[in-house]
Amino acid sequence: MNEQKKEPNIGIPVVSSAIVMGKRVLVRADFDVAVAGGRVIEDFRIRRVLPTLKSLIAAGAAVRIIAHRGRPNGMRSEALGMAPVAETLGFLLGRAVTLIDNPFASDAEERCGGAGSVTLFENIRFWDGEEKNDLTFARELAVRGDLYVNEAFANCHRAHASIVSLPRMLPAYAGLALADEIRQLSRVRERPAHPFVAILGGAKLETKLPLARRLLRDADQVLIGGVLANTLLTARGVMTGISRRDEECMDDACSIARDKKIFLPVDVVVTKSSLPTEGDLARIVDLGMVEDGDAIIDIGPASEAAYERILSGARTIVWNGPLGLAEVSAGTHATRMLGAAISRMTGAFRVLGGGDTITALSSVGLLGGFDHVSAGGGAMLSFLAGENLPGIKALLHNDK
Ligand code: 3PG
Repeated sequence: MNEQKKEPNIGIPVVSSAIVMGKRVLVRADFDVAVAGGRVIEDFRIRRVLPTLKSLIAAGAAVRIIAHRGRPNGMRSEALGMAPVAETLGFLLGRAVTLIDNPFASDAEERCGGAGSVTLFENIRFWDGEEKNDLTFARELAVRGDLYVNEAFANCHRAHASIVSLPRMLPAYAGLALADEIRQLSRVRERPAHPFVAILGGAKLETKLPLARRLLRDADQVLIGGVLANTLLTARGVMTGISRRDEECMDDACSIARDKKIFLPVDVVVTKSSLPTEGDLARIVDLGMVEDGDAIIDIGPASEAAYERILSGARTIVWNGPLGLAEVSAGTHATRMLGAAISRMTGAFRVLGGGDTITALSSVGLLGGFDHVSAGGGAMLSFLAGENLPGIKALLHNDK
C-alpha cells in the first residue's frame, strides 16, 4: 500500500499500512448490491474495496465494516440485511467475516474480532440516526474504532452520520478505491475532451434531475432513458400510459425537457404491465402511439441506433442509469446493445456508474469495455457536476 499520507493530486489523506498497523479500523463501504434469493448476484461494489481490505488485514488491523443496503428508513427489514454480503465478502477474502447484528450492544466490542479479523455490522440504515446524521449515534459508532476509512464513494453525496460525522471524530482517510474514483472522475470534471456525451437513465430522479441541469452546461449532448425519459416525455406532453414516472419531480423535469442538448427516445418498447413477466407481449411503437394501458419498458431500436450514432463521434462518454426497466430482462436490451457498442468506441474516455447500470452490463461481461467503472451513481453525477461532496469534504479535517 502507498506509504504516502497524502496524494498530491487528489488533496486528501489516503490510508496506508503504517497508519493502520494494529489499529481498530472502521471502514465505511458501499455494499448496496443486488441480491436475489438471499444471494448477492452482482459483487462489483464488494470487489472494488478488496484491495483496501486486504491491505488492512495484512497490516494487522481489526477491520470493522459499516455499510447499508437499500432504503429501510430506520427500521429493521429482513430483506435488506447484510447476511448475503457477509457470505460473499467472506468468500472473496477467503476468510471468516463476522456479522454483528447490533454494533451498539454492550457485548459488541468483545464480539468484534481483534488483529487481522473482519467484522461486518448489520445494515446501518436500520438505525434512523444514520440518515438523520445524529451526533450521538455517530459517537456510539466511533467507540468501535481508532481510525476511519471512507471506501464508500457511492454514498459520499449523502450527509449521513457514518459519512460526514464519524470521520470528524476519528483520524480519517480515503480508501484506495475512493482515491481512484476522485482521480479518474477529476479527469472528466476538469478537462473533458469534446464532444462530451452523457447518457442518463434509471430512477432516483430527486438526485438526478438537479444534476442533469448542470450536466447540460458541460456536456454537448445528453441521451435519456429509463424513468427519467418517461418523466421528461410527460413533461413535454407526450402520452406515456402507465409507465413509471416521477410526478414529484415534474417541475424540475419541465424546466429542462425542451433543452436542445437533450435527446429523448423516438420509439419505445411497451407492454400492458408495468412489471412484465416472461409471457407478457412486448411491442415496439413510435412515440405518440403509446396507449393508455401501455407501460414503456425500454427505448426502441430506432432510438438505440440514433443514440449509437451520436455516441460514435464522442471523445468523452459518461453513463449513469439503465435505459429501460432494469428489473426485467426484456427491459435491459437497449442498455446491453449500447454497452456493447460503447465497448468498441476506443477513441473516447468512457465512464460508467451506478448500481443498476453496473448490474445490467456486468451480467453480459461488458464492464471491461469502459475506462472507468464508478461505484457511484448519484455520487458520480454530483462529483461531475462540480459539487463538493460532503463525504469527501469530511476527510479534509485531518489537514487542520
Ligand atoms: C447507491 O446505490 O447509489 C448508493 O448506495 C446510494 O444510495 P441512496 O440513493 O439510497 O442514498
